[in-house]
Amino acid sequence: MKGTEKPQQAAQLVELPKGREVVLRVVPMPSDANYTGDIFGGWIMSQVDIAGSIPALRLARGRIATVAVNSFTFKQPVLIGDLVSFYADIVRVGRTSITVDVEVYAQRRTAHEAVKVTEATLTYVAVDDERRPRPVNQESG
Ligand SMILES: CC(C)(COP(=O)(O)OP(=O)(O)OC[C@H]1O[C@@H](n2cnc3c(N)ncnc32)[C@H](O)[C@@H]1OP(=O)(O)O)[C@@H](O)C(=O)NCCC(=O)NCCS
Repeated sequence: MKGTEKPQQAAQLVELPKGREVVLRVVPMPSDANYTGDIFGGWIMSQVDIAGSIPALRLARGRIATVAVNSFTFKQPVLIGDLVSFYADIVRVGRTSITVDVEVYAQRRTAHEAVKVTEATLTYVAVDDERRPRPVNQESG
């Protein structure tokens, strides 16, 4: 390390969020790792897209499509064998679109406490059988 570089801060250990539903929980395998041995960012992005779609699908009660990844931050690495938990909450409902915040926490092996590894915001659009946007019925959630 050069003299001017700050040492990397240790990841803050936190309790998993209470009173919120885990929409997805998964353990990444060696085949999900990149050449350095950490989990590939594309694997996490894929899981986040699936996790975010779950409350959007519930509200839309039918077909949806991901239209945008508005933000995506990898805060800490995910490691092989972590128990990775995805929390997803709808933060905005438009005429045809649903925006969802996804927070991801990793429990290292047998640890009880977790590390917040990723946060992202994605927008989904309710679509009909012809893949055209259709209005979201907000009463149907
Ligand atoms: C999703 C899709 C049907 C939307 O069609 P479109 O003609 O762009 O629709 P519109 O312009 O009417 O926008 C629909 C809604 O999406 C929102 N939207 C469009 N682009 C957006 C963007 N970049 N960010 C956030 N919201 C966006 C609009 O604001 C609108 O929301 P509202 O009705 O709640 O106001 C079309 O873009 C599509 O098929 N995209 C590919 C989807 C896909 O295959 N996803 C998987 C990844 S490959």
